[in-house]
Formats: sequence, C-alpha cells, structure tokens
Amino acid sequence: MHEAYEQDRLGFLLATVREHGPVVELSPGTVLVADPEAVHEVLKRTNTDFLMTQNRQKRSTAGHRGEAELDSWMTTRRATLSALAGEAVDAHLDWYATQVGALVDAWKRRGTVDDALPELTDLSTLAFAQLCLGRDDPELRSLVTALQLALLPIVGSNLRLPAPLAALSPTRRRAVRAQRDLTELLHRRVAEPSAGGLAHTLRSAGVPADPLVRMLTSMALASRLVSAAAISWIIAGLGDPGGQNGDGPLTATEVAHAVDESLRLWPPTWMLFRETDREQLCASWRIPADAAVMVSPYVSHRDPAVYADPLRYAPDRWEDLSPGPGAYLPFGGGSRWCLGGRLGKAQLLTAASVINREAVITTTTAPSTPNVRSSMIPDHFSFHVVARPSRSS
Ligand code: HEM
Repeated sequence: MHEAYEQDRLGFLLATVREHGPVVELSPGTVLVADPEAVHEVLKRTNTDFLMTQNRQKRSTAGHRGEAELDSWMTTRRATLSALAGEAVDAHLDWYATQVGALVDAWKRRGTVDDALPELTDLSTLAFAQLCLGRDDPELRSLVTALQLALLPIVGSNLRLPAPLAALSPTRRRAVRAQRDLTELLHRRVAEPSAGGLAHTLRSAGVPADPLVRMLTSMALASRLVSAAAISWIIAGLGDPGGQNGDGPLTATEVAHAVDESLRLWPPTWMLFRETDREQLCASWRIPADAAVMVSPYVSHRDPAVYADPLRYAPDRWEDLSPGPGAYLPFGGGSRWCLGGRLGKAQLLTAASVINREAVITTTTAPSTPNVRSSMIPDHFSFHVVARPSRSS
C-alpha cells in the first residue's frame, strides 16, 4: 500500500474507496473514513473518542478532554473565536480587500502570472501579522515563513520516527530552532503596550501569554499556505472555461458559488488525521483500537452520491445543493473545525470578489495533478490577467 500511496496519494485513495467501500483499512491500523455519516461522527467525537494527538508544529499533544493541555487549548480557542468577530474583522476585511486590489493591479501590469502562490503566501503572512498585532511586522513575517519552511519536510513525510530519533534529526532540530525563535518574538510582541489586533484583544480578555503565543503560532501556520492555496484554486476556477469570468463580472452569488466549488474540488486541507485509543463504533462501522483514522475532504467531496458528475468544475451546482453532515468539509467540522473558518471564508470571498471585479482571468496552463506533499497546492499553473472593461453607462 505504502508505495502505491506514495506514487499517487489522491488517485490511490479514490480508487480504494471505489473498490472497497467508504470505510476501508488501508493497511493494518490505518483506516480511511469517507462515509458521510461516519465522517460526521469522527469530527463530532474528536477530543473524546477520536483524538488529535499532534499539533500544527507536528509535536505530540494531549488528545482527551480533561487533560490540562487540551483544556487550555479549548479555552483559548473559545476566547479567540469570540475575538474573531464584529467590527475588528470588518476592518480587517477592508484592509485585506485593498491588499488584494494592489496585487491584482500588479498582475494586470505584468499580463501573465506564472505562479501566484509565492505572492499569495506573502499576502497571507502579511494578513496574519495585521490580524495578530494590528500592524505589519517584517520580523514576525520572516520567522513565520522560516518555521513553515522548516516544517514542510516533516509534514510532507509519511514516516513518524520514534520520538528520541526524531528529536535528533537535523530537520527536526531546524524546526525546533525556528519554533523557538518565533515563540520568543511573539512573547516579546504580545507584551508590548503598543501591540494591537488579536494580541491586544486576547490579553485584555485575560488570556495568559503562553497559551496566547501557542494560539498565534498555530494560526500563523494554519492560515499561511492554506489560504494562499485556496485563492490559487479559486483563480484556477475563475480562469476555467466553466468559470465564465470572461463573460462579464459574476454576481455576488456566482462568486460565492465559485468559492464553494473550488473548495469542493480542491480543498487545501485535503486530509485530516485522528487516532483511537479504544475500539470505536462509528455510524455502523467498527474502528479498531490504536488506529490512525484518516478523513479526506478531497475524497469526500468526490462522492457521486452527493455531487453529480463530481469531477466537473460546476459552480452552478451550488444553486440547489446543500450537502448533509460529513459531506462538505473544507474547514473540517465538529469541535476542532477551523478556528479561522469564518474569517478565512470571508477573506476568500473578498479576494474572489476583488479579482472578479477588477480583472478577467484566463488560464494559460491549467493546474496539473495537485501537489499534496502538505496542503493541496496547484502545480505548474499560469494565467493571463487583463483589466475588466468598465461598463459604459
Ligand atoms: C482560508 C482557508 C482555510 C481553510 C481551507 C482551512 C481549513 C482548516 C481545516 C480543514 C481545519 C481542521 C483540521 C482538522 O480537523 O484536523 C483547520 C483548522 C484550523 N485552522 Fe483553518 N483553514 C483556513 C484558514 C484559516 C485561517 C485564516 C486561520 C487563522 C487566522 C485558521 C486557523 C486554524 C486553526 C488555529 C486550526 C486548528 C483548530 C484546532 O485544532 O482547534 N485557518 N483549518
């Protein structure tokens, strides 16, 4: 299984589900769950029966409610969710729209964009600094970038070395150093009286410095590449002949459907991981003890029972589609659904609206097989950008 999976992760998972059904043991102790009812159960029962035992930095964490580390995370999560609402977020989205507008202007001047991902990743990193501190901070951006680059080989690898060996590997040591540098900087920043943004709101709400810095670090990592990948895929959709972006600006509803459809076909977080420590009954499926449980939004979003002609990019399918629980998971679900889901979705809608209003996109090289070493990103993808003709009055 290992070799076939490594050669073509996505193709292997789709073929396995087609051949063996929606809940399948890929290798002893590794179970892929793609039945919507079972997926819903796994996500809903996360933190009790299905455990997240690694954090965004690929470190082991407590997976059970009642354990101090997880309880602290969940408390900070609640405070952060309350802070990510209201006027502060509206102001952030206005700022974000201006940044996307400037990027689109630069693309229009260039005419052809060969690979938008690096610029979009820079934009996500800048958006994180703005959200986190209420201002830009080049040092913060540089340390966030360094940590994510140091983590990429660890995230991309399938191997989990035993802890003592893993700690010794040069890759792991580089990641530990990058983690330490970012943690130290964030501690200094959140202690500064001038810190604005989330750092200020959460400190004022009484969140202690350690869990606050842990939360900000996770947010930086969780939002950076994933948001950039999502916008790249939205552009790929808009530039697709089925995207109809050349026929005139899409309406706000059509833009929303384009975003939903690209998140369906190309969910940047294409795989979620859980573990069991006891046997679990999940919908009508038995999941063994000590299993690695995989839920793949990519696979779930191609279920022909939910999505007619699932491989086709068809934003208009969303006119009368409302997938049931466990069938549409670009932001996960249950107790650990994406903490930045509301904000992230609003950013994607903002980016898509600005691009659609300002420019006509035509894909010149359509994305080939997605690269899934970490987040799902488009490989070899370029597009033409021209100013959208203004309407004569
Ligand atoms: C815009 C595109 C985004 C997508 C597609 C996305 C997707 C996801 C998904 C699927 C998960 C759940 C992972 C799991 O269940 O294992 C997740 C978790 C998370 N996301 Fe997002 N995300 C996005 C943007 C953001 C943003 C903008 C932020 C923060 C500003 C963020 C912060 C987080 C955090 C902190 C978690 C971990 C939550 C926890 O474990 O309790 N995400 N994201």
